[in-house]
Amino acid sequence: MTTPRLDALVRDRLGLDPESLGESAFRGAVRHRMTARRVTTPEAYAGLLATDPAEWAALAAELVVPETWFFRGGRPLFDHLAGWVAARGSRPVRILSLPCSTGEEPFSLALALRERGVSPAGYQLDAVDLAAGHLARAAAGRFAASSFREPDPDPRPRHFRPTDDGRWELDAEIRGAVRFRPGNAVEPGLLAGESPYDLIVCRNLFIYLTPEARERVAAHFERLLAPDGLLCVSPTEAARLPRARFVADGPPAFCLLRRASGVGRVEALRGPTPRPQPRRASTYKNRRPAILGRGPSPSLPDPATVANKYREPPLRRPIPSPPPGRWPTPAGSTRRSRPTRTRPGGTPRPTGSACSGRSSWPAAGRTRRPARSATPSTSTRTTRGRCRT
Ligand SMILES: C[S@@+](CC[C@H](N)C(=O)[O-])C[C@H]1O[C@@H](n2cnc3c(N)ncnc32)[C@H](O)[C@@H]1O
Repeated sequence: MTTPRLDALVRDRLGLDPESLGESAFRGAVRHRMTARRVTTPEAYAGLLATDPAEWAALAAELVVPETWFFRGGRPLFDHLAGWVAARGSRPVRILSLPCSTGEEPFSLALALRERGVSPAGYQLDAVDLAAGHLARAAAGRFAASSFREPDPDPRPRHFRPTDDGRWELDAEIRGAVRFRPGNAVEPGLLAGESPYDLIVCRNLFIYLTPEARERVAAHFERLLAPDGLLCVSPTEAARLPRARFVADGPPAFCLLRRASGVGRVEALRGPTPRPQPRRASTYKNRRPAILGRGPSPSLPDPATVANKYREPPLRRPIPSPPPGRWPTPAGSTRRSRPTRTRPGGTPRPTGSACSGRSSWPAAGRTRRPARSATPSTSTRTTRGRCRT
C-alpha cells in the first residue's frame, strides 16, 4: 500500500527510514491514514501529502515511536550531566533535549539538576519534538506508571503527586522549567536564531533516520552546539554520527572540543581520517551514555566496533513492583492496567509500547523484553506497531 514516491516523501520530509520503522508498520500507517482521508490509491495520498501540511502531522504521528521514560539510560547518566551543568559557572546553562517525546527526558534532567541544588534559574532547557501530540502530553506534566521504569530511586515520592485518574503529576516548578517547542530535526530552519546550547541531548532518534537525515541533524548539532559544549547521544548512536565532525573522549563519556577556529563545516567534513579510539572505549558500561563534544582532534572510534560495544544489552532482570506504602496510591489507580486511546481513525490501541502487542510496563516478576537491536531492521515488528526503542 505504499509507493516509491511515498517512501521518498517520508525519507525527505521526516528523515525517517521506512525500513527502520518496519515495512508492515509503515504500510499500516499509510493505509490507516488513507482510510481516514477516504483516499483509495497511494498515488492520490502522496498528492494529498504534497498539499496538506495537517496530513503530514497526522502521518508523522502514526509513524514516530514515542517510547521514553524518566531517567532512561540510568541515574548515573543524569547525575553526570547535572554535575557537568552545575560546574559550568554562573550564567544560565543552555540545554536542548531533541527529540523530547512526551517530556520524560528533559524533566529528568531538570529533576537531576534540582537534586544537585541547581534551580531552574540556573539553566534554560528547551525541549523539541516533531509530534504535537507528544508535546501536549509533555506540557500537561501528568504521567502514567509506564513512565517510571528506572527503579532506583523512584522519583515519584519526592517530585510527583498522585492524581485522581491514577497518574502522577510533576511538581509545578519542574514543569515550568522546560520550554517545549515543535520542531523537525531534519528541516534546515531548526531552531534558527537560537544561541548555542551548552548541552544537547539527542537520544533514540538517529536509529530511525536515513543516512542523509543523520547528516542533516549532525549539521544542526554543529551549528547549535557551543564550542566547548557536550552532545549526549545513546551508545549505539555514537557510531552513526559523521566521523569527521565529532570525536569521543574518555570514560565514562565521549567528550569532544570544537575543531580549531576558522575551520568550516565543509572543511571539517574533508578532514583527516579519524584515528580509531583507544581500547579504553570498550571498557565503558553498556548502558552508559555517549557524550560527545566538538573538537580539533578527530578520533571517533570505528562505527562498526562501537555499534557492537555499545549496543544496549537485553535487560532480563525482573522489574520489582513499587513497594507498597512507599508513596500514596492514587485513588482508583490503574497502574497495571493499560488504558487505551483511540486513534484518529477510531482504532483503539494500548498506549505505550506496541512491541509484539505487549505492555511496555512489565508486571512484577515479569522480565523486561530485550532492548531493541541497534539494527532497526532486525527488530520485532507487528502490523500496527513497531518494537519500540
Ligand atoms: C523514541 S522517542 C525518544 C525520546 C527521548 N529522546 C528518549 O530517548 O527517551 C523518539 C521521538 O523522536 C521524535 N521524532 C521523530 N522524528 C523526528 C524529527 N524528524 N524531528 C523531531 N522529532 C522527531 C518522535 O516524535 C518521538 O517523540
